[in-house]
Amino acid sequence: MNLKYIYTPGAGKMPKYLAGRKDQIEIALSAFEALLAGEVPTCIAYSGYRGVGKTVLLNRLQETAEEKGITCYHIEVREDGSLIPRLLSHCRDFLNNNSGMEKLRNLFQKGAGALKSLEIGFSPKKGEFSLSAGNGKAARMVDFSQSLENLFEAIGPIAKAKKQPLCFFIDEFQYADPNEMDAFLGALHRLSQLSYPVIAILAGTPEMISKMYDKKTYVERLFVFPDLMLLTLSDVSDALNIPGEKAGLSYDKDAVKAIYDVTGGYPYFVQVYGQILCSSLGEEDMPLTITGPIAEKHYDTYLKQLDNNFYKIRLNNRSLLEQEFLFAMASLSLPCQTSEVARLLNKTPKQIAPTLAKLKSKGIIANDKGLSFTVPGFSDYLKRIQNRNSETS
Ligand SMILES: Nc1ncnc2c1ncn2[C@@H]1O[C@H](COP(=O)(O)OP(=O)(O)OP(=O)(O)O)[C@@H](O)[C@H]1O
Ligand SMILES: [Mg+2]
Repeated sequence: MNLKYIYTPGAGKMPKYLAGRKDQIEIALSAFEALLAGEVPTCIAYSGYRGVGKTVLLNRLQETAEEKGITCYHIEVREDGSLIPRLLSHCRDFLNNNSGMEKLRNLFQKGAGALKSLEIGFSPKKGEFSLSAGNGKAARMVDFSQSLENLFEAIGPIAKAKKQPLCFFIDEFQYADPNEMDAFLGALHRLSQLSYPVIAILAGTPEMISKMYDKKTYVERLFVFPDLMLLTLSDVSDALNIPGEKAGLSYDKDAVKAIYDVTGGYPYFVQVYGQILCSSLGEEDMPLTITGPIAEKHYDTYLKQLDNNFYKIRLNNRSLLEQEFLFAMASLSLPCQTSEVARLLNKTPKQIAPTLAKLKSKGIIANDKGLSFTVPGFSDYLKRIQNRNSETS
């Protein structure tokens, strides 16, 4: 294999080996098995911080489900929050692809009717519904959710009768417009009550979970919520060694440890490190075992690459207020309290709450047991920038 292509730093770029996700994959495999046996498994919502590998896991699972004969539809929700129109277009495909069975004619008609009423009723302008049943907002919402339920209630029996289970794979689910999320969860709930073989597998940042809970208190029964964590030392070894094998490239324990220490097990960084190492090698160097000192020799290049691209973009895309917040946090020992950041900025916690909310929603800050950065090494980067700025001023 060409050394250039062994590692895959990027957004949603499938790694040659998906390390450390056996348990999470297992959960989906049992769901697929249940679906294929005509059962209705619990839906799955994978959550994890930015860059931890949600998209690649979701895509791998979809590939597997398709190989097993499950009908799969993929949606990536964008920041505009639009979910339902894309869902409708997949439902239309499903109805079209499965029409033509005489004994199911009634169901197709029901489905086509529900689809039509939704298509007419849904204005592409975000969050606006124009069904005719009432003038008040609540009345319109109820009708909208009801129509989606009707549509799913028509699709469910078709999937069951044709032994054709269905799975919606939805990435970036935290972005879904709250009203659309509400309607979708309600319709899924109805499907599971009626035991139809249709499920959703979602991926999103951790705030997806609280948004889902805000909408429906029963989501903890409708979904399981596996966490996607940083890679462990042995996962990092797999992520480096297994793809390298074919090219004759391996890593000894010291090299793996050195790379684990600097990347913090952040999958994207591991791919970056591997690629930097490979770009310094030629086919004539193979076979080769990377030792600790060889790995460490590339540390400066690695850091420079992250500083000039990944970290820099993360910082520069923030407003001045947000940047101030981040620099204050970097000067504290983490995790820290909001009140400590506020004190450094000469503000009250209430005054900085909107900035914190924005940084959380952008996936820059986690607020689990105190505030911390979601990406390893970001605090050190901010300190480096601050030192550089104070040297030049
Ligand atoms: N389990 C893994 N093993 C090895 N590499 C991985 C793994 N998961 C992800 N990667 C690598 O990490 C990078 C980021 O993956 P991905 O885009 O799926 O993350 P994400 O969680 O979807 O990020 P975002 O929240 O920004 O959408 C990619 O380069 C991918 O190849
Ligand atoms: Mg992603």
